Amino acid sequence: MMKKRVIGVIGLGHVGAHVAFTLGVTGAADIVKLCDVREQKLISERQDLMDAVRFMPHRVNYVIAKYEELGDCDIIINAIGKIELLVTHNRDTEMNFTVAQVADFIPRVMAGGFQGIFINITNPCDVVTDLIAKLSGLPKGHVFGTGTGLDSSRLVSAIAQQTGLDHKSITAYMMGEHGNAQMVPWSLIEFGGKPLSELEKDPRFVFNKDEIKERTIKAGWVTYVGKGCTEYGICSTAVALANAVLHDEKRIMAASCPLDGEYGEKGIFAGCPAVIGAAGVEQVMEYTLTAEELAEFRKCCSTIRENIKRAEAVWR
Ligand code: 2OP
Repeated sequence: MMKKRVIGVIGLGHVGAHVAFTLGVTGAADIVKLCDVREQKLISERQDLMDAVRFMPHRVNYVIAKYEELGDCDIIINAIGKIELLVTHNRDTEMNFTVAQVADFIPRVMAGGFQGIFINITNPCDVVTDLIAKLSGLPKGHVFGTGTGLDSSRLVSAIAQQTGLDHKSITAYMMGEHGNAQMVPWSLIEFGGKPLSELEKDPRFVFNKDEIKERTIKAGWVTYVGKGCTEYGICSTAVALANAVLHDEKRIMAASCPLDGEYGEKGIFAGCPAVIGAAGVEQVMEYTLTAEELAEFRKCCSTIRENIKRAEAVWR
């Protein structure tokens, strides 16, 4: 009997529904378990997804499940949220709502015997990922967040548009908070292995660094203002991370990772490039940043640490 790839999606709003669809349309999953507190929403999303299965690369079974029924999932992707709260264009305003919800359902998920990999999308991403890690008790690295994986894709997109080079030929990361406290380690940017510093004689490779950083951080709000949500970027990021786990890819991608001394930080989750494989975050990549970049990254980590403290006041 072949082992089926089972993925749970918690929260079937704009993001969760797009994750569920992308898991099917890219052939990533055999069974997708849909979990949400809204009964009719679940029935309607399942119907629509099953109507698309005929056109997916492989047969997918979308099933409705309660938290306790997610125990056999290889991966659970958490996408709960209250998108209206993001009108402030600050992900922290979702915290009181999301932290209370997540603190409530994680014990129920764990009671179902879940022992897989947890990928968190819910905002504030680094804070909620930390909460899931604490409440689930899963081994280090088995819980991680999409974090600056999405922001890194936004940065690559901005660089691709200026240089005319393909997104896949560019290595560039955002690090820090999936929020306003994130930074660009310019010293790590490479084009097919050639560092940016060696290409700067060509005007295509001369960046207005403040403008690119600002544009990357604000990209989500450009999307949100006309759609009331963001969907394609985030679901693609989450499914890329899920595939890296399912296929044990050992792919280096930015994600919200548990830090244990890397970059001088400990005891928090923050966006960093990491090796993603069957055991989740298998290794946080510790690059040599410039002194200014390191100081900026550590400042981002202070913001996350303060927010983790604020979240603890909500759930403890
Ligand atoms: C995003 O960056 C809002 O966190 C969401 O697309």
